[in-house]
Amino acid sequence: MARTAPASELYDLRAARSAPDLWPMLERLYGGHPDLAAMSAALRDEMARAWKARPADLKRLDLQRDLEPDWFLRPDMVGYAAYADRFAGSISAIEGKLDYLDGLGVRYLHVMPCLKPRKGPNDGGYSVQDYRRINPALGSMADLERLARKMRGRGMSLCVDLVLNHTAREHDWAQKAIAGEKAYQEYYYIFDDDTLPRQYEQTLVEIFPNDAPGSFTFVPELGKWVWTTFHEHQWDLNWSNPWVFLEISKIMLFLANKGVDVLRLDAVAFMWKRMGTRCQSEPEVHMILRALRAVCRIVAPAVIHLEEAITAPAEMLTYLGTGEHDGRVGNLAYHNSLMVQYWSALASRDTKLMRHVLATHFPERLSNATYVTYLRCHDDIGWAVTDEDAADLGFSGAAHRAFLSDFYEGSFPGSFAKGALFQENPATGDKRISGTLASLTGIESGPEQAELAVQRMLLGVALIASYGGVPMIYMGDEIALANDWSYLDNPLHAPDSRWLHRPVMDWDRADAAESDPASPQGQVLQGTRAILHRRAALPQLHSGVPTRILHPENTQVLAFARLAPTGPVLCLFNFTEAVQRIPEGWLRAQGAEKMHDLLSGHDIGLHDGALVLLPYARVWMI
Ligand code: GLC
Repeated sequence: MARTAPASELYDLRAARSAPDLWPMLERLYGGHPDLAAMSAALRDEMARAWKARPADLKRLDLQRDLEPDWFLRPDMVGYAAYADRFAGSISAIEGKLDYLDGLGVRYLHVMPCLKPRKGPNDGGYSVQDYRRINPALGSMADLERLARKMRGRGMSLCVDLVLNHTAREHDWAQKAIAGEKAYQEYYYIFDDDTLPRQYEQTLVEIFPNDAPGSFTFVPELGKWVWTTFHEHQWDLNWSNPWVFLEISKIMLFLANKGVDVLRLDAVAFMWKRMGTRCQSEPEVHMILRALRAVCRIVAPAVIHLEEAITAPAEMLTYLGTGEHDGRVGNLAYHNSLMVQYWSALASRDTKLMRHVLATHFPERLSNATYVTYLRCHDDIGWAVTDEDAADLGFSGAAHRAFLSDFYEGSFPGSFAKGALFQENPATGDKRISGTLASLTGIESGPEQAELAVQRMLLGVALIASYGGVPMIYMGDEIALANDWSYLDNPLHAPDSRWLHRPVMDWDRADAAESDPASPQGQVLQGTRAILHRRAALPQLHSGVPTRILHPENTQVLAFARLAPTGPVLCLFNFTEAVQRIPEGWLRAQGAEKMHDLLSGHDIGLHDGALVLLPYARVWMI
């Protein structure tokens, strides 16, 4: 096969730099496959072609980010996630909202699934029919390119979803498979009968037990069974086939050349199947992700990868690179545990479990990667609290998880929350939760609770803004949008309670929040903005600065230190509606010298030898 010679020395240097992350991984993944050599040659060609086609301004950005590899770790890096239609109406209309985002301090926008989905039910856009087209209801690829360019001009980055685990059954590959093309049948997991599926199912975990039970679907046109981890229309890709690696690499580079900065790699944990396991987070998944990362670093090093793996704490870390893959896999991964522990500590008014989980499972610093820290997103909250962690503190994991579901559904006596259950699984007792940040923190539970809800929300924002990572604001949370029950009127959405927390952006409320700072939405908007702006100005909150969990005696308060070279910043959070005290001696022993709060900009007055934390207070002190 003829090789297009890459024009530039820079390309060759980058190819050499990332070679150890690419070719040996492919060898380990596909060494036994007869097509490895042919696929590798095709991949070399594709990479060279994509580099040639890469627009000059993006090549400049590549260079800039090669020179400033910590660009996404800096304290001014703040994310925002929104559906194009629900936020602005369309992709091009987002351009008109960039001032708003800028004002909030946002540097990175995740436009929720926008590639062309199948018609009909499509799992909120995660059932993709064509990765090279934009959902026609939202605009065109030219619109996306233009948005990316506009954002680049303002120093903002664009993130889009790339679903790696499955395509829609309407995708061309699946259609060709249905039409009988053998090469495309090998892009998926297709079984003649259900013998193997039943064997696999012995150890698989159901993702949507209520509305999409099982992990396999009988496809009458084929007369065969297809692996469908999620919904029946989402066909799992067969990543043990090297040609799938090539196809996805091509798509990745196509999107990179359109100006996408962050690829959110969806549902990556499920990409490798092994009989007798949960088929989640198998070692090969990390080899694939490392190799995909290398492809981008060679051709489009400005692009980083966000890996979506919502798993138990120790497992999640592997997506940021552990062991042999340290610093070489994802750049970003969701800190699902921090999110779960925020909700757990708010409900139990205690931070013991939170401290234990954060201190035991998470290192003080990561190599070349960081977390996306968040409170809510478009998905449900699954109570990822392990039995082992709960047992370490002497209680039952199952009981605690059930408590959290009851609490946030609102059925637990005295709960301030109003949420809804998602995918109750009678077989395991597992119940997940839907609801917006505002509704789950109590905005709908009377005026007194609404006031506390504001403080709970701002406590959360201060937490995700200081822990280390890219804080991600989920659309509408900054103006305290409540649950949207109208999803029940839409037959496409009604079966999926996650639509409860996917409201349409309420711009009137945003205006009101601007003009009435004392209203709950005003306090949340202005408070969020203030926190994010303070963060941007504090080099101590760079994500490369280590985070150490501290253990004050008062377990109602979460405390950690950001161990900056200029001295520690002590971040303290009162997770209760009562006043809490932290002795001055303890603060000084942790390195607090000035008794100054960087968050409010005020000096801290001590009372009776202690720092007094008002209900839900948050302090970043030096
Ligand atoms: C991810 C998405 C979720 C979707 C699933 C399947 O977890 O966040 O919304 O249902 O992948 O694509």
